[in-house]
Amino acid sequence: MGSEQADRAVLFYESRSFNYDDSWHDDFTKRFAAEINIQPGQHVLDLACGTGLLTFLEADAVGPSGHVTGVDVTPGMLRVAEFKKRKEPEKYANVDFYQGDILKLQEIEALKGKQFDIITASSALVLFPDPKAAIELWAEFLKPGGTFAVDSTHPRNLVPGMVLERVARRLDLSVPYNREWSQNESSLKGVLESAGLKVDKVITVENQSGYGKRQYEVGQWDDFFVENVIVKDVARTFANNDIRRKAQGLYKEEWERLAVNGQVEEVDSVFLGVARKPADGSRYVPSSSSKETVFEGGCRCGGVRYTSTQQPSQVTFCYCRACSRVSGSGYLPFCHVDDDALTFTHTSTMKTLVLSKAAERFFCTGCGAPIAMKYFDQEVTGLVLGSLDLDTFKGAMPNVEQHIFLREKAPWVTVPDDGAKRMEAFEEMEIK
Ligand SMILES: C[S@@+](CC[C@H](N)C(=O)[O-])C[C@H]1O[C@@H](n2cnc3c(N)ncnc32)[C@H](O)[C@@H]1O
Repeated sequence: MGSEQADRAVLFYESRSFNYDDSWHDDFTKRFAAEINIQPGQHVLDLACGTGLLTFLEADAVGPSGHVTGVDVTPGMLRVAEFKKRKEPEKYANVDFYQGDILKLQEIEALKGKQFDIITASSALVLFPDPKAAIELWAEFLKPGGTFAVDSTHPRNLVPGMVLERVARRLDLSVPYNREWSQNESSLKGVLESAGLKVDKVITVENQSGYGKRQYEVGQWDDFFVENVIVKDVARTFANNDIRRKAQGLYKEEWERLAVNGQVEEVDSVFLGVARKPADGSRYVPSSSSKETVFEGGCRCGGVRYTSTQQPSQVTFCYCRACSRVSGSGYLPFCHVDDDALTFTHTSTMKTLVLSKAAERFFCTGCGAPIAMKYFDQEVTGLVLGSLDLDTFKGAMPNVEQHIFLREKAPWVTVPDDGAKRMEAFEEMEIK
């Protein structure tokens, strides 16, 4: 029996199998293969191999003395792959395909006891509910020193689908992908490292499907709702009328939240990571995680958790209208930590929202708690002070340093006379 994820993937991909190769995947797999140093004679495992676009490129690279194994769960995708192999049986004698659920790789008979020089998973990681657990399992099939290559999406890639994912999460429905955790190159690096692999590189591949960037009008939400929730709903997730009605309102809300100046931007990029299992076969421990954690924190329900290896600094009370609204209070208190000191350890209910040009906010969709604010173009994150677990805190909490955005302060809030700096607006604020 496959996992629930696998069953949904089959529903999603079976009908797409026949035309799958007439898409940008053909070009993208070439760019993916070019980033891995595949040598003649090597043994490669291509996970979620689909119709074999990447698998056959790998077979060309390893040559007759090497071997490539492709695994996928969707019968239609594998039928296309087998058809291509049959067209060139001699050339591709070094390729074998197996049907199986890669979340249960240990159950695939042909893989028992095997380890590979290289494992790849192209255009697949964001299909899995727990990317760290998936990579940990796959890494067991990697030889010591072996290479693992994978990609994950830019947060505004295929933005109508991202909105759909947020709607489904709010309605407690599952969709066949999980992209919310993939925010930037660091998120992919963090997932690879947390699974015990040492990252060689993470790059941003632009123009994945050839359009670069697109702007949509905020009013276009309805077109995307019809396309994604009604026309493309092969798994019949939203088939019930009541659910569909609720989904419609939420889709509009989530779409509008992504809009800046009336436009929703779509970015045609993905992050591509290449990592290694340490040569002695151990788990890689990144240097930041070998530093001592000085505090932990998270939301009320535990769906979002983080650790910091740095003391909090620059305690700031923000009185802007957005902070007031998201907190339901007069202000939000933040402290700052450098991005490389901060690790999100649980993100199952984490969601991001862009409410201004300055930053992206992180929330928990399980209990509604605001968690953090990631400033664009700065390697600093503001953590909502109330999310810190004070019982884990080692050190002294710094005093309040500044009260900001007082120009937008609600009239019923009194700013404490605590000697901290007071600023009317953002331009005066310096993030340290
Ligand atoms: C977007 S396609 C990528 C195919 C190929 N890697 C490529 O780059 O062209 C995603 C593939 O993941 C496969 N897949 C999804 N979940 C899977 C699972 N649990 N086990 C095996 N394959 C899975 C689907 O069947 C589909 O073929």
